[in-house]
Amino acid sequence: MRALVIGGGVIGSAIAWRLAGAGVKTRVYDRGQLGEESSWAAAGMLGPQAEAEGPGALVNLCLAGLDALNGVYRRLLDESGVNPEYDRAGLLWVALDNAERAELEARLRWQRDAGFKLEELTGAQARELVPALSAEVTYALRFAGEGVVDNRKLTEAYIQAAIRAGAEFCACSAVEGIVARAGRVAGVRLSDGTLQEADVVVNSAGCWASGIKGCAADGVSIRPVRGQILCFDAPADALKHAILSPRGYIVPRRSGRLLAGTTSEEAGYDKSVTLDGVARIASGARSLVPALGALPLRQAWAGLRPAAPDYMPVIGPSPTLAGLYYATGHYRNGILLSALTAEVIAGLIAGRTPSLDLSSVSPARFSADGAKR
Ligand code: GLY
Repeated sequence: MRALVIGGGVIGSAIAWRLAGAGVKTRVYDRGQLGEESSWAAAGMLGPQAEAEGPGALVNLCLAGLDALNGVYRRLLDESGVNPEYDRAGLLWVALDNAERAELEARLRWQRDAGFKLEELTGAQARELVPALSAEVTYALRFAGEGVVDNRKLTEAYIQAAIRAGAEFCACSAVEGIVARAGRVAGVRLSDGTLQEADVVVNSAGCWASGIKGCAADGVSIRPVRGQILCFDAPADALKHAILSPRGYIVPRRSGRLLAGTTSEEAGYDKSVTLDGVARIASGARSLVPALGALPLRQAWAGLRPAAPDYMPVIGPSPTLAGLYYATGHYRNGILLSALTAEVIAGLIAGRTPSLDLSSVSPARFSADGAKR
């Protein structure tokens, strides 16, 4: 079997690793450099519970996503030779005033009602874990077992493991459209006009997924949602836990660098960093960790989160074209869901029935007969 994967980000690379490992002849095309869009721009938080806004299909999928990553992580390290610096120290949500505390208590209630585990901390207990936290933190929630990964290294790990398993990667090779013959996929047409034949095609082109010609009948519409990030130099171990709050988040890297985020903006495909974005992130981050105000600001960047209209990922077979699969629309959860998405897509291509209920992420929800259009 020959598979072509459109998009060499964290999702496409993870899929290529699983497909090539299963003996599928796999080639990945990326319109630019591999892994240099949202996979590069992300902060790398692995917080299915910490990032959940409420009970339902998304948090359940994200929990399965973390399990899937935990399940393959050791093998990924061994097969890639790349260490993505996965740190499971736990994530902390903190409150600096009564309104924020009420928001956290509401999170605590629905998560406990759903049977999830999380701990309540006083401000002093939170500062014992993270001494750099503001003296104004009065209350916190701790999500043990959640953590962070270096998303750029994770993407590189999938790429290297996929290459070692036999996959080919073609950077700067844009796919113009899907080519179909007799009602099923026959390959892709590249922007240089060449036809590349395949038995299956996976559209994992992130927020460029709906621009691929030949997919329109499925009604999958993915748009970019910009997120800006600031990066500070800090001594190694300045922060041992990633911190979230209604004012933003701060994520430590092992090197000591601290990433502060973020914005959520409808700015089309514009990856500019703006003064408003920087000001908002900086003020939120400094209120959480006052010492940040004196640290060197090393870099700022913006990335484009791929979002479907309902903000749920799009994972599964095309309802109209046999041999075409989607793995896109991961919005805020692409890093977290990479291993699970790859497992699901590789399983579907191999003809296995997924053990998860995939109805909430099915591409069929957008087609003419779908309920959510
Ligand atoms: N998952 C964090 C973000 O999208 O900013």
